[in-house]
Amino acid sequence: MQLPDEAITYDYAHLLAPTSEEWTPAAELRQKHFLASTKLRELMPRVLQVRSQVATERELKQPPPEMLPLDSGFIDLPQNLLDQQRKQGDASQLGRIMTLAAHMREQVDRFLVLGIGGSYLGARALFESLRSSFHNDLPAKERSGTPRIYFEGNNVDNDSLAELFEMLSITCIDPEVRDERWGVTVISKSGGTFETATAYRAIRREMREFYGLHAPQLKTLIVPITGAAGKLRALCHADGFADENVLTIPDDVGGRFSVFTPVGLFPAAVMGLDVRALLLGATAMTRRFLEERFETNPVLQYAAVNYLMATQYHKPIRVMSIWSKKLEAVGLWYDQLLAESLGKKGLGPTPLTAVQTRDLHSRGQQHQEGMRDKIINNLVVNAWSQPPLMVGMADRNEDELNQYNRKGLPDIMRAAREGTNRAYFDAARPTADLVMPTISEHTMGQLLQMLMLATVVEGRLMGVNPYGQPGVEMYKANMKALLKP
Ligand code: PA5
Repeated sequence: MQLPDEAITYDYAHLLAPTSEEWTPAAELRQKHFLASTKLRELMPRVLQVRSQVATERELKQPPPEMLPLDSGFIDLPQNLLDQQRKQGDASQLGRIMTLAAHMREQVDRFLVLGIGGSYLGARALFESLRSSFHNDLPAKERSGTPRIYFEGNNVDNDSLAELFEMLSITCIDPEVRDERWGVTVISKSGGTFETATAYRAIRREMREFYGLHAPQLKTLIVPITGAAGKLRALCHADGFADENVLTIPDDVGGRFSVFTPVGLFPAAVMGLDVRALLLGATAMTRRFLEERFETNPVLQYAAVNYLMATQYHKPIRVMSIWSKKLEAVGLWYDQLLAESLGKKGLGPTPLTAVQTRDLHSRGQQHQEGMRDKIINNLVVNAWSQPPLMVGMADRNEDELNQYNRKGLPDIMRAAREGTNRAYFDAARPTADLVMPTISEHTMGQLLQMLMLATVVEGRLMGVNPYGQPGVEMYKANMKALLKP
């Protein structure tokens, strides 16, 4: 179910080249750097054809070898998980996720998420956007029974992991006390990723030391999430994990498309998020993608506009300009999604995340006057979750802010955004707005699914397979060769 005012929209009217504008040097630049409506119209049949292609691909049971890899399972998965839960209740995949997560929440006050790339960035985006920015600093009762959350296994940084262990050894003394217990999920689809595997080895050692070598908690306070086969699954078997305590990542869903598999859903449930609302949001977006006409279809609009800007207007840098600090990790998640999906065959836009107004003070100069190689997609949230903080009157006015006493931070943010957009328009710098009505599980579900679908559509428009990441293997092979004793 989706209320109309909960829907995400993509507003690109400001980057269309104005059709009747008096000649000025800036107007001439806009004709050159802004999108001509005719180009968008010309592309339309191809966009609609790609949509049909993507819709058909998801139904292929045995794709021909030249189409592989084809990890299109993410498209229907949210709906399938909800349907399955309705029919099977606790025995469904979602039911299982919720049960394991409830146990984790009851049992521990600190929860580590081990994973890298697609096996971590989605969970982090959900955590940062939907939980308090100070979640880990809040007392337990203010966290409504959810543990503090930490992300590791996404690096091989010695000091970072050592400092995590140091923190655990200082704060977690007695395994009999809930507030001193910690748990972990280890997430790796392949089961062989070095960063995650080495962190897990160290954490497994620490856990055995803390809980005892044969403690039964080791089987429930560690929740592995992995593919149907691989080294991590083999290790779990050897360690005696019950099959139902190891969550499975479907074969036909690739890492960076896996936020709505146990990879994102299990950590989200431990964080106490409404995972059904996330899935409902994603489902609503899939339906809009498949059914709505271009004019109201944010997936097709975003893919078409950004594709044309990259390929026909020489805008290889794609800036996600984020107007809410809480969405920075969404930008990092999208960086990976776009770079790994489309950075192939010498092609692909370069993603760049900027958080505003912070980065107006670092990147703003370049975006206003630097090379004309960027399209800027603003990610905008219409309604803040917290009541507005007002500037207010003060006894001393040396800062000259009393004149703004009736303004709140949301007013200042809006003025900064509109002022920036206007400055970019005047300088013929193309911008568009991706608008979220608010930040909630439902809108986050829509947003992440929208960006995944748009990336697939864009890949098909470019003639690049958005799935797989063969280039990432090179560094791994070299690293392993260099480590050989
Ligand atoms: O998108 C991808 O497939 C990758 O970014 C993977 O998520 C990342 O390399 C981690 O892989 P794994 O889950 O196998 O450890």
